Amino acid sequence: MYVTLPGIYAQAEAIDFKIQYYRKLMDSVTAIAHPNIAFIKYWGNREDEFRIPSNGSISMNLSSLETRTSISLDAGLPADQITINGEIAKERDAERIRNFLEIIRRQSGISTYARLSTSNNFPTGSGIASSASGFAALALAGSKAYGLSLNEPALSRLARKGSGSACRSIPAGFVEWLPGKDDTDSFAVSLASPDHWQLVDLVAIVNAGQKKISSTEGHHLASTSPLQSARVMDTDRRLTICREAIMERDLNLLAVIVEQDCLMMHAVMMTSSPALMYWLPATLEVIQAVVHIRSEGIPAFYTIDAGANVHVLTTIEFVPDIEVKLRAIASVSTVLISPAGGPARLVTSDLKF
Ligand code: DP6
Repeated sequence: MYVTLPGIYAQAEAIDFKIQYYRKLMDSVTAIAHPNIAFIKYWGNREDEFRIPSNGSISMNLSSLETRTSISLDAGLPADQITINGEIAKERDAERIRNFLEIIRRQSGISTYARLSTSNNFPTGSGIASSASGFAALALAGSKAYGLSLNEPALSRLARKGSGSACRSIPAGFVEWLPGKDDTDSFAVSLASPDHWQLVDLVAIVNAGQKKISSTEGHHLASTSPLQSARVMDTDRRLTICREAIMERDLNLLAVIVEQDCLMMHAVMMTSSPALMYWLPATLEVIQAVVHIRSEGIPAFYTIDAGANVHVLTTIEFVPDIEVKLRAIASVSTVLISPAGGPARLVTSDLKF
């Protein structure tokens, strides 16, 4: 066959294009992280920029729910390209993610922009905080993509700068955020692995809409409540009891302290200026149902984050019974069920050739 010089150039160009394409695929890093439910809540910062919390907190990762984030660097991009659940990110979300990528870029010394796609396997707007799993997955995938090799505390510190509770989605299972005094010593550690205790979270969804006041705005208001300083001062007591209840697998002890901690945080919210009222009538209905379920001898307790939905916790054998009871409440639209989950992790099977 007769081959012309332009033909050879065209073929070389096509091969080069393919190499570039596969290199981009190869450089794509994917990570998965779970959201977490706080037993002892984080509410209020001592320092806002780095999210150094006013108090320590304890949580459990939720294995059935996850955020999956893929990221690849592309020297040809004029700006970061961000998709969330298959759609181009809204400006508010995009800005928060871009600011976080800037932190990683500064840390790595690489200024290249990134193509990022993130999705949740739980219904969007279901009222489950996706910022914890979102920034945990992004911290892991992003740091790897920019060539950083961070150990668990360093990753947890990085995730914290995206969203405070995200630092607790880095380690496995039952997790404590050591508040620290500054950026260097404020990170989360695992207290126990997910298989330590077959505790299950049933999230009774009573409002699938987006909350009007974000947690970030709420943290700023915490200090305006006269109750916040008393809540913060009492934290060591609650943390000690919570830690002991988890280590001893003592559901009754955990129930008392988690419900008290939840009500203390919501008391602070309700007495802030302006007041924050996240509850709906249906929230109280589920709380009362849980108290009733317990009076029938079924071990269960509730906790509520910055929203109206109620997390009901119990051990695995009581899940079917409690699920039926929660679904019977007219204002409960659905129930998401999740045992304790593992750490944030990289997914390598995404590299396809
Ligand atoms: C009520 O971690 O969502 O869920 O750092 O501003 O993103 P930002 O706040 P966020 O706050 C969580 C508040 C909470 C309690 C908790 O998870 O500890």
